[in-house]
Amino acid sequence: MAASWLKNAVFYEIYPQTFYDSNGDGIGDIQGIIEKLDYVKSLGCNALWLNPCFDSPFRDAGYDVRDYKKVAERYGTNEDLEELFKVAHEKGIYVLLDLVPGHTSEEHEWFRESAKEEENEYSGRYIWTDTAFSRGDGMPFIGGEAPRGGTYIINFFKSQPALNYGYREIHEPAWQMPIDAPDALATREAMKDIMRFWLDKGCDGFRVDMADSLVKNDGEDKLATMEVWKDIAGTIHEEYPNAALVSEWNKPMQSLSAGFDMDFYLDWRGNGYSVLLRDYDIPKFGKPFEKNNSYFSVDSERDIHGFLRDYLHQYEGSKDKGLWCLITGNHDTVRVAPMLDEAERRLAFAFLLTMPGAPFIYYGDEIGMRYRWIPTKEGGYQRTGSRTPMQWNHSDNLGFSAAAAEQLYLPVDPADDAPTVEEQEADPNSFLNHVKGLIQLRGAYKDLGNYSPFSVYSAEYGSRLFAYKRGELLVAVNPGRQLMELGLDTKYEIVYAIGEPVIYNRTLIMSAQSFAVLKPVEW
Ligand code: GLC
Ligand code: CA
Repeated sequence: MAASWLKNAVFYEIYPQTFYDSNGDGIGDIQGIIEKLDYVKSLGCNALWLNPCFDSPFRDAGYDVRDYKKVAERYGTNEDLEELFKVAHEKGIYVLLDLVPGHTSEEHEWFRESAKEEENEYSGRYIWTDTAFSRGDGMPFIGGEAPRGGTYIINFFKSQPALNYGYREIHEPAWQMPIDAPDALATREAMKDIMRFWLDKGCDGFRVDMADSLVKNDGEDKLATMEVWKDIAGTIHEEYPNAALVSEWNKPMQSLSAGFDMDFYLDWRGNGYSVLLRDYDIPKFGKPFEKNNSYFSVDSERDIHGFLRDYLHQYEGSKDKGLWCLITGNHDTVRVAPMLDEAERRLAFAFLLTMPGAPFIYYGDEIGMRYRWIPTKEGGYQRTGSRTPMQWNHSDNLGFSAAAAEQLYLPVDPADDAPTVEEQEADPNSFLNHVKGLIQLRGAYKDLGNYSPFSVYSAEYGSRLFAYKRGELLVAVNPGRQLMELGLDTKYEIVYAIGEPVIYNRTLIMSAQSFAVLKPVEW
């Protein structure tokens, strides 16, 4: 049984570097997040996911952890983080930390020990080949860096050696071990220990980085990685029944069966989520953005099937096991603004916030913060432009920090019309108030809840209209310029609208770029 709070959880993802700088050193911090909890609450969000805030050399913005049990100095102390849990809980907000189980920083103590020639407790914590000249059996590997006579497998960047959870198919018995070898089991126990450490301090669970990456040579079906997670997630859920786990996996039939409560639907080029919101060529540095051709782009000719083909069978195959979560964006994904303009984003967010799964809002997306091409920072590369400072108001550094502009972790949006919270809070028609209204709508109807059923009502091939049922409610969206008509199966009234949808007899007439939620009249 998943934690009951997930039933109506709406998450807000905070990138700690750039949310709010409380002490004027140019970088966001935990006290800054505490100061802004009322803002998070004002959105209607009741849960947070914090990107990694642990000690790290920051070669991958903190996804290269040097000490899992210590908050990075630049963000504050462990006590600050505990205070965040406490204050958040007082406000009814749950907090997920980011667990990176697949790799550590090359500067982690375990790795330093593991790299030594003499055998020790950590010799088998990472994946080392048998000689300094061996190759990685299809995995990227590094040689010539350590006194130990072996090369080591990396999981992501060069600075992120892969932790050893063992191999499913063993091709090189000299150095690949099965998943139940003592060293592989010790890695699992080490992860459980880290999870207990933070759960005991009051966190409410974890977003789990590259959760599908643990066991090597595991095939497409990931059966061995699933077995490892059944153990880890099973143990944690038993000990902490209110803890929630969300995986970065993007295969809910695997991850939810493996014990996760939630999985993300991620932006993988060409997949259903991508064609829904982000169908463009990867932006090139300094070049203008290409027009987005996704479903929500007004002039796109797409119907909804690019999404449904990918989504529907996975939703159906996993809905009894947990939540497959739609995101507005994240720290790895190009922000939807400015590729979708505000009218397009209004419809897109209405869709995202009326679908099943716990929604995740990436900080700043609620005010339409824009993706910007800026030079890479801490291994961000093209992701850096989605990680710029939160835009609070039009004071210095857009209210993010009191530091000098050159001292900021990343530059703020220099545009005169850079959207800000303050401005949009004051304007009843702002995008921010639109998003708040949608979160309220979601909270007002049980049928829009995270676990409430979803089914397709109308999705004609070639048509821009899409209509779906959430329980008894009927939801319709028309992202295009043509008027669209939809036959109704019963008498409804419109309870929420964008554009000018109207009911005429038993027909719903959807104006250009419109959205409607309909409730049966006799209900
Ligand atoms: C995940 C994170 C990403 C990180 C990578 C390696 O994809 O979201 O930011 O770079 O894993 O840990
Ligand atoms: Ca700071």
